[in-house]
Amino acid sequence: MIDIHSHILPYMDDGSKDMDMSLRIAEIYVENGIYKVIATPHYMDGVMYKSNEELRIGLENLKKSLARAGIPLELYPGNEVYIKPDIIDDLEKGKISTLNDSRYILIELPMNEIPIYVEELIYELCIKGYVPIIAHPERYTKISKDPNILYRYISMGALAQINLKSIEGFYGSRVKNTAELLLKHKMIHFVGSDSHSSNHRSPDLRNSLNILSDLVDDKYFDQLTFKNQEAVLKNKAIDIIPPKKVVGQGDRNFVHLIWSKLQGIFFDL
Ligand SMILES: [Fe+2]
Repeated sequence: MIDIHSHILPYMDDGSKDMDMSLRIAEIYVENGIYKVIATPHYMDGVMYKSNEELRIGLENLKKSLARAGIPLELYPGNEVYIKPDIIDDLEKGKISTLNDSRYILIELPMNEIPIYVEELIYELCIKGYVPIIAHPERYTKISKDPNILYRYISMGALAQINLKSIEGFYGSRVKNTAELLLKHKMIHFVGSDSHSSNHRSPDLRNSLNILSDLVDDKYFDQLTFKNQEAVLKNKAIDIIPPKKVVGQGDRNFVHLIWSKLQGIFFDL
């Protein structure tokens, strides 16, 4: 597997807190047979933000430390960009790192709301030649309630990445069920770790990769874990399996609404 979503860089965001932790995260990647990782610190205006220059320096420092420690992990630059209307301005000013400086850009949405300008932004990014990859759509409540929102984004040219631990139930059953549904409808193009630490949000992915291999066929598994990521690293187009719309959402919405209310009462998710 190649990971396109990782907070392995130290001192950048809410991910790795220092160089020792970054090296431990790197060791876990290698123990899991993962040798290529795109580092994607949060790019969140006014909340979590490091300049592109700081990101590149941090990346080079970690690469040097990996070489000194003899850990064979290759790192590439990127950002996880929290959505805002003027992303294209920031891209043109060189403030944002796309994934390995390719046409692919990792975009994060708010957990509970979908801003009204999302579709316009996807359209504008695509017109400019970028390919937005929606990070962990299974975690967004609006997409859980109506997965065809994601279907619309994909129809416009966006792609999507689920967090592997979602299918283990790490974020709760709502997120797990949504991830499975999106996979079943071929609305997902990448799996990623979204690792933040060397402990509870580490890239120890063996269990979730086993679960994934039971959920999808071999060809789709290869695309989700490796083939599409390779295309991103090389800035090439990916082969897209046509997605299927989710039908019968009305009933599901009702059941989901009741279940989310119960979860809200009994669990702090
Ligand atoms: Fe992330």
